[in-house]
Amino acid sequence: MGRKLLLEHINVPGINTFAVYREKGGYRAVEKALKSMSPEDVVEEVKKSGLRGRGGAGFPTGMKWSFLAKPEGVPRYLVCNGDESEPGTFKDRYLMTYLPHALIEGMIVSSYALGANTSYIYIRGEMMPQIRIMEKAIEEAKAAGFLGKNILGTGYDLEIYVQPGGGAYICGEETALLESLEGKRGNPRIKPPFPAVSGLYGCPTVVNNVESIAATVPIVNDGGEEYAKIGIERSTGTKLISASGNIAKPGVYEIEMGVPVEEFIFSDEYCGGMANGKRLKAVVAGGSSVPILPANLIVKTIKGDPRLMAYESLADGGFVSGTAMGSGGFIVFDEDQCIVRNTYNYTRFYRHESCGQCSPCREGTGWMEKILNKIETGHGDMSDIELLWQVQQKIEGNTICPLGDAAAWPVAAAIRHFRDEFEWHILHPEEAQKRNYGLAHYADPLVPVTE
Ligand SMILES: Cc1cc2nc3c(=O)[nH]c(=O)nc-3n(C[C@H](O)[C@H](O)[C@H](O)COP(=O)(O)O)c2cc1C
Ligand code: SF4
Repeated sequence: MGRKLLLEHINVPGINTFAVYREKGGYRAVEKALKSMSPEDVVEEVKKSGLRGRGGAGFPTGMKWSFLAKPEGVPRYLVCNGDESEPGTFKDRYLMTYLPHALIEGMIVSSYALGANTSYIYIRGEMMPQIRIMEKAIEEAKAAGFLGKNILGTGYDLEIYVQPGGGAYICGEETALLESLEGKRGNPRIKPPFPAVSGLYGCPTVVNNVESIAATVPIVNDGGEEYAKIGIERSTGTKLISASGNIAKPGVYEIEMGVPVEEFIFSDEYCGGMANGKRLKAVVAGGSSVPILPANLIVKTIKGDPRLMAYESLADGGFVSGTAMGSGGFIVFDEDQCIVRNTYNYTRFYRHESCGQCSPCREGTGWMEKILNKIETGHGDMSDIELLWQVQQKIEGNTICPLGDAAAWPVAAAIRHFRDEFEWHILHPEEAQKRNYGLAHYADPLVPVTE
């Protein structure tokens, strides 16, 4: 069994309450940090841990914290990103639902490290239960003296507020989130300046994912070096994976970084294998934005090494034969699933969620949706595949925020790895309309990579 740093006590009855969480050793990190460490010491431990942001980009958390500007007399903010709207990702919701105090504890030590006296948890607006749960957890922590003025008599003050999100996927992009938190429409800002210099209300701000913030608790408790001993290469510690799709046991799993992908899918400790005895066709390993990989490439790299659940190994081969860990939304497809239909579905989502500020994203996502609809409904032409390829190329790298890339990458990967399935839809329009995918591309994990 892999080590559990975040979910160790998930099955303890009442662990969502302050009393039980405290009984199980909760809030020790707050006591340790506030009573025996300076804010700089906490930043140092997070740096040593090698923790990388769990929201998608994987940027080193300690490094991000060290960029925070500290002008005299200007407040600094920590903003927790709990918007979690990436299709296939539901681990932050899980953490907030069952372990709300793990997030509050992480918020306190992280805010202390950054010198923030006011912090926010921005939660996807549709997640009303989680908004209420977090508000209750804040009240409980405050009543026990872990929030408010002069926490534990150390002289440190902190207030945490919950903000319901604006109801759009783009509000999870950190600068759009800050706009939304300020009461405006959630449009991404042009960077630089980065939030570390000019963030919320123009003040230095760190935006971190729910899981990144919760991970600072074991880092403070056990020390950064201990945390860094878990995992592989620059993928240290544990990671929450939201596993969904055609697997026997969908759910949220905490893995030690470096578990082989094949083990993650097929072992009883995690996904428990494919549902209904079907064969593995493809995986989207890090939420809908990352490139889909066919079975042979997700199980093994192009060099023939086992692919691991780690930033480096998943990315091995770049976007030609690799993918990305992203937010850890692991979506498994069996042999009956249609890649064209799935790509169309994702593209509809990105077209709907584009904020419209940049033309490559606003227009490009619309074009891609129309072309994919044409192919999916049996009206496609062979030249549509090339056109689709060109449109996604024009979006990538040409936009204000990464939503444009997030829309382009799934389309590029689907064409790259499953072109025959697009061609089949075009050549067999009637069967495609009947949703008969019997001839759909199937990649056997044991077949050598031919690309
Ligand atoms: C369109 C879009 C949506 C995003 N949604 C989220 C989200 O829901 N949660 C999240 O933590 N990060 C999300 N991100 C990434 C954030 O911009 C940011 O990188 C992250 O919150 C930083 O936290 P971390 O360093 O702890 O990962 C999104 C990015 C984009 C481009
Ligand atoms: S890439 Fe798309 S979502 Fe991002 S700012 Fe441009 S139009 Fe808006």
